Amino acid sequence: MGLIGRLKNEISVVKERDPAIHSSMEVLLYPSFKVMISYRLAHKLYKKKHYFLARFVSQRAARKTGIEIHPGAVIGEGFFIDHGNGVVIGETTEIGNNVTLYQGVTLGGTGKESGKRHPTVCDNVMISAGAKVLGSFTIGEGSKIGAGSVVLEEVPPRSTVVGVPGHVIKREDAAAPWETLDQTDLPDPVSEDIAVLKKENTELTTRLLKLEDKVRELSNKKQ
Ligand SMILES: CC(C)(COP(=O)(O)OP(=O)(O)OC[C@H]1O[C@@H](n2cnc3c(N)ncnc32)[C@H](O)[C@@H]1OP(=O)(O)O)[C@@H](O)C(=O)NCCC(=O)NCCS
Repeated sequence: MGLIGRLKNEISVVKERDPAIHSSMEVLLYPSFKVMISYRLAHKLYKKKHYFLARFVSQRAARKTGIEIHPGAVIGEGFFIDHGNGVVIGETTEIGNNVTLYQGVTLGGTGKESGKRHPTVCDNVMISAGAKVLGSFTIGEGSKIGAGSVVLEEVPPRSTVVGVPGHVIKREDAAAPWETLDQTDLPDPVSEDIAVLKKENTELTTRLLKLEDKVRELSNKKQ
């Protein structure tokens, strides 16, 4: 993509994602816009092994925006960092398309791994303010990481994770029908509930029968 195309692209990302914006001109003041223009250049330099220059560009952007993106990180299209200050993205981080981060997010390492040591963030993930994602695992497609969480292990797709250490509090298990184009095997929540109730009923009946046996045994012994 040429420079003009890249600029247009980054401007439309900010406009789409921030409800507080009023005009295209405002985008030029956004830390996310500034840092992404610098990152795209730094990443090109990094790939050509111009490591010093790549670092020079990224550190300059970090001083101006408070967002530090290592030039080696791989970032897809539609990436947006709201507010931005205090964001750190490590060298071996991989980020898919349409990912949103808020201020204070770290995509970092634990210090215990070498080689690939930073997270892989799949498409459409949102990582909330102040969250720390540490290690070389994957955050599944469409997941949300809650504000202030510290995530230390793999997150399945379409999950919401909160807390320290982070744990899954919500999960959409089944793929949406429009994704699989499967219009016959649609989930049937009523039958699923009935199946669960039947299973519980069988378990309770078994336990009741055992209790009745025990009571009979005890009363026989007393007599
Ligand atoms: C994680 C998040 C996206 C979840 O949103 P949601 O799916 O609507 O979840 P809910 O609000 O229904 O909360 C579900 C449960 O998680 C808890 N929870 C939500 N966010 C939490 C967080 N960051 N840390 C700890 N617990 C959290 C809620 O208290 C609730 O608990 P309960 O079921 O015991 O009542 C959201 O809470 C969040 O953290 N947003 C932050 C966005 C942000 O960074 N904004 C900054 C703008 S400047």
